[in-house]
Amino acid sequence: MQKPAPVDYDVLEPIRERWSPYAFDREKPVEPAKLLSCFEAARWAASSQNEQPWAFVAGDRDNAPESWRTLFGLLVDGNKTWAKNAPVLILSVVRLHFEKDGKVNPTALHCVGLAVQNFVLQSVALGLSVHQMGGYDREKAREVLGIPDTHAPVAVIALGYEAPSGSLDDPKLRDRNDNPERTRKPLKEFVYSGASGWGESSPLVEPPK
Ligand SMILES: Cc1cc2nc3c(=O)[nH]c(=O)nc-3n(C[C@H](O)[C@H](O)[C@H](O)COP(=O)(O)O)c2cc1C
Repeated sequence: MQKPAPVDYDVLEPIRERWSPYAFDREKPVEPAKLLSCFEAARWAASSQNEQPWAFVAGDRDNAPESWRTLFGLLVDGNKTWAKNAPVLILSVVRLHFEKDGKVNPTALHCVGLAVQNFVLQSVALGLSVHQMGGYDREKAREVLGIPDTHAPVAVIALGYEAPSGSLDDPKLRDRNDNPERTRKPLKEFVYSGASGWGESSPLVEPPK
């Protein structure tokens, strides 16, 4: 299903086309070459001091089933109900300190987000869909995956091909999946001038006259 973002200004096609479906095709695996392209896209993200503070734990129901089951087991029930059909599950992890001197990396999370967004947009360009999740057990993730204290789990990413909404058991999820509404705050609510205190919108995002 297409749910193109009702943008106010032009953006790249994969940005407009990306949305987070609940219905994934259980029978259609992700081609290994496509998965490699998505990780390659993540690899080429910019990062502070080229630290590349990201790591990923990847599970594929066919090709890395134990990892898939471990990641699936971390999800909250509400996410399990639909993510069970996603052929690929991935956990993003951040390294919180610089490798070279052990100092806190204050932009580490920003860099992981850049890598994940590269992954996501590459996947969309390849005809795949992604639904990211913060709803999972972080403590359990640390424990079962042996994530060291130097790192922190960030988000779980479900990747696969979209399926029709009818494949979802839960009628509420079907409705949510079918809901065509896409909403975002307008630019003036989050682009500020900084000239007269916090929160004053920037004249740069006034609509052109
Ligand atoms: C970091 C992150 C965590 C999210 N966590 C969940 C989640 O646990 N469960 C869920 O159903 N959706 C989750 N989402 C999806 C968001 O609800 C969704 O991206 C948002 O509503 C905007 O919709 P769109 O992605 O279709 O544009 C998450 C998205 C992100 C980026």
